[in-house]
Amino acid sequence: MIGVVKHASKIDLGEKSSTSMLSTAPTVTEPFTAGRSAPRLLFDFGVMASLMKPTVLDQPVLDFGSGTGWVSEFCARMGLQTVAFDIHGDLQACLENRAQADRRIDEGLLSFAHGDGHAMPFEPGAFGHLLCYDTLHHMHDYPKVFAEFFRVLQGGGRGIFVEPGARHSTSPETVAFVEAQKKHDPSWIERDVVLEEIDQIARNAGFTAGLCIVPMPHPLALQSYSMEAWSRFRDGDVLERLRLTDQLASLNYWDRVIFYVDKPK
Ligand SMILES: C[S@@+](CC[C@H](N)C(=O)[O-])C[C@H]1O[C@@H](n2cnc3c(N)ncnc32)[C@H](O)[C@@H]1O
Repeated sequence: MIGVVKHASKIDLGEKSSTSMLSTAPTVTEPFTAGRSAPRLLFDFGVMASLMKPTVLDQPVLDFGSGTGWVSEFCARMGLQTVAFDIHGDLQACLENRAQADRRIDEGLLSFAHGDGHAMPFEPGAFGHLLCYDTLHHMHDYPKVFAEFFRVLQGGGRGIFVEPGARHSTSPETVAFVEAQKKHDPSWIERDVVLEEIDQIARNAGFTAGLCIVPMPHPLALQSYSMEAWSRFRDGDVLERLRLTDQLASLNYWDRVIFYVDKPK
């Protein structure tokens, strides 16, 4: 049985708790078959896991905006006590189906809470880490959620973010998606994540060192080199090096951003 976190709102299991969902539901199969790119999700999770801070790994992890709970599942696979948090009401079914689908997942490590990220139902300092995957850009009020991030993290804790970048809201795919989504959920928003703006908001919230930005290649746009080109790169060929660094500089601002914030001790 997956535990519910104290103060979490009551949830309605409905038909989603049925074990008949096990083999087909995206809430079990994501990150592998839910229509989003498995290589991207796996790569990005690997980056988030690499950025975790060894000194607070014995403290609970908050999976902020956990969706189907795939990040929570992977944290539990790593042996981390994890709380899935989301505004949608299906978390218990999502997590229970995951745990039932694979005996390697220790469901004692998983719990959940429903609520709004702008006012979370957690005690101050409840978490050593918060992981925010593809969720910050849905928040209506960035300063409010950063104040909440600061409150629920303990001193020395870390928030790790993987988000779309500074031109997300105006990309044709996003505009089309928002149009379609409005029919089901008029409150759905897709915002830009502009590093300078978030850096200032994070500092104002108390993360005094600001953002630590981690530029990474995109798993769906990896560069490759012939042996000759790689030898030229290694020998210092300026054009070969610019090809990589220009891509990293643009990608890690406009298209996808990875960063973390540390709460001072
Ligand atoms: C794009 S999904 C990402 C979900 C998950 N992190 C993943 O990668 O699959 C964004 C999630 O944010 C949640 N969300 C949106 N607004 C929220 C809010 N105000 N508070 C908490 N969660 C929210 C949505 O329900 C959704 O599950």
